[in-house]
Amino acid sequence: MSQKKLILVGAGPGDPELISLKGIKALQRADVVLYDALVHTDLLDYAEKAEKIYVGKRNGEHNASQEEINKLIVHHALQNKIVVRLKGGDPFIFGRGQEELEYAQQFDIATEVIPGISSATGIPALHNIPLTKRGSNESVWITTGTTSACKLSGDIEIAAKSSATVVVLMGMSQLSKIISIFKKFRGEELPVAVIQNGSLQNERSVTGTIADIEKLVAEHHIKSPAIIVLGEVVENSSNYMMQEKAHAGKFPGKKI
Ligand SMILES: C[S@@+](CC[C@H](N)C(=O)[O-])C[C@H]1O[C@@H](n2cnc3c(N)ncnc32)[C@H](O)[C@@H]1O
Repeated sequence: MSQKKLILVGAGPGDPELISLKGIKALQRADVVLYDALVHTDLLDYAEKAEKIYVGKRNGEHNASQEEINKLIVHHALQNKIVVRLKGGDPFIFGRGQEELEYAQQFDIATEVIPGISSATGIPALHNIPLTKRGSNESVWITTGTTSACKLSGDIEIAAKSSATVVVLMGMSQLSKIISIFKKFRGEELPVAVIQNGSLQNERSVTGTIADIEKLVAEHHIKSPAIIVLGEVVENSSNYMMQEKAHAGKFPGKKI
């Protein structure tokens, strides 16, 4: 019986324990695993019998192009293999998962998607930041900071005009522009968290407000990969309370 199959598996935001049980079972069945830079390599231990192929980018090394990845998937699957495409977070949140599925389907390769915990939702939760909170916000936006043309996404301004909690991925190179847009529409006191390498041992984060977040990011050398969370709900973060103590008196009415 033909096994040729592509399984897109979300690896979760970083901590290898945040993958799903279904994702682990897929790794155990895999003949080939193609994995990205944001995937924790401990997860590869579950894929005992698989050939493991790194297709990500680290420290400026050459990375496989999307076309090369698509071709690798098809090349292996057409040999009657189960190919697991292991991607950071959730494959369908800024993960180009759909492109890989569609490419494989042209070759009559069966496909399956196993969702993952996205950095956009999982990392705020790990920081005790509820993305929605009754009475605080009516929606959550997950946006990219940077478009495929390396420009600031126009959606940032639309999001800033709403009451939403906004989670920006791939936004660190656009931080100044993002902050100035939010300053215009939400004011200087809006709480902001920036979290690098969330859920991993080398995680670094700062919380503050529109007024001081850029300074904090620079002082603490926070860099990509990071998420930027903007909204009143960031007040619930335990780090925010610490920050608040450092800025005693700046947040009137909030108990510390
Ligand atoms: C190409 S997107 C992939 C997102 C992924 N599919 C997800 O659902 O998390 C990469 C961006 O996700 C964010 N990201 C992913 N993992 C992260 C982590 N552990 N800590 C902070 N940000 C992370 C960063 O903004 C990074 O630039």
